[in-house]
Amino acid sequence: MYGLEDWLSERGRRLHFPVDGIKAQVAQARDCRLQATIGAARTDSGEPMALGCVVEQLGGLTAAEAVTYAPTGGLPALREAWAEHQLAQNPNLAEVTMTQPLVTSGLTQGLWLVGALHADADTTVVVAAPHWGNYDLIYATEGGAKLVEYELLDDHGQHNHRGLAAALAGVQTKRALVVLNFPHNPTGYAPTLAEGLEIKAVLQKAAARRPLVVVCDDAYWGLWYEPRMYRQSLCGLLVDCAPGLLVYKVDGVTKEDFGYGLRVGAVCVGGAGLTDGDRATIENKLLGGLRTTVSSGSHLSQRVALRMLEAPEYAAQKAAAYAAITQRYERLQAWLGANEAVWRGVLEPLRAGSGYFQCFALGGEARAETVRRRLIDERGVGVIRFGGLLRVSFASVAAPEEVVAAMADVARA
Ligand SMILES: Cc1ncc(COP(=O)(O)O)c(C=O)c1O
Repeated sequence: MYGLEDWLSERGRRLHFPVDGIKAQVAQARDCRLQATIGAARTDSGEPMALGCVVEQLGGLTAAEAVTYAPTGGLPALREAWAEHQLAQNPNLAEVTMTQPLVTSGLTQGLWLVGALHADADTTVVVAAPHWGNYDLIYATEGGAKLVEYELLDDHGQHNHRGLAAALAGVQTKRALVVLNFPHNPTGYAPTLAEGLEIKAVLQKAAARRPLVVVCDDAYWGLWYEPRMYRQSLCGLLVDCAPGLLVYKVDGVTKEDFGYGLRVGAVCVGGAGLTDGDRATIENKLLGGLRTTVSSGSHLSQRVALRMLEAPEYAAQKAAAYAAITQRYERLQAWLGANEAVWRGVLEPLRAGSGYFQCFALGGEARAETVRRRLIDERGVGVIRFGGLLRVSFASVAAPEEVVAAMADVARA
């Protein structure tokens, strides 16, 4: 139906990972007796020439496990372990074909790579309103694409699939790129299975009109608090749903494993219209983007992430952290339910139920900004403004209701 070229931006067509470059030659010589390939110093006995004051910081890791270069696409063992992790979390991925995850420097680099391959002046990028502001920087400011918003929720507090369809129907450029971010930043909204299937139907239609790229930004995977929510990535529902659709999954340890500064993310791609050769070409281009930007990500961080996935305590520790955040969410909802008199009329809580955040509408940008500044100056309370909304990160504070009470108080004064 479409050829790979139709999905690619100008830059995406150019990007490639040289098959005979330094990194490829190093990989070919991996098992050689004498390693005189890469610019990485070794001792006479062949150990990494790491400084003692660095090695002593490494805990249980050896220098070879931390200061040497990781391959451009990430440690093979981590890539494998992350693929297994994704599958265990999202059984729907078992039915589709995706490339093995490539390791990125945080999710931001994965999202950027998708932009590098697909976003340019011939691309319209459709995002929800509100949305994480870095999409603007990555796809519009840097990529040169046109950004179009649709209201995330309709009047009934459901996912606004009609708005998404209308935004896609209005696209005039050669190709479109849709960013799906659930659990959602900033609102904390996540779809039900029925809403996920509505999204799928909209994307199927749109992909019949023009080449369509979808990126599932699964940063907040796993943090669902309401039973109605679909507890898997939408990615598995979408990958094989239409030949005109290319689907990326971008995820990582940042939020779901509380490893913000480790900068370990992952990107993988699939699509019903792709041949094995297309998948290999896209993977090569993603590798080209990685090589161009960071050359290779932090080996130390990747090793930590790998050990985390292998740790027998991993599941239990993660469950305990999730339980603590779930309790904060429930505590906040209970407080909102019991204290309507405090906030009604000045704050309007948006439908939430997943992720790290609860948003409140304050009746306009200027008012929200005034309240935000006064919260800092008069109450020592910090929140984030998205347009006319204030976003409370209940994942970050022991008693999120104190934040909301202060917000209501200031908004009423
Ligand atoms: C929706 C969303 N996607 C991606 C990211 C970026 O993650 P990272 O810090 O791993 O680049 C964030 C971080 O705040 C986010 O909220």
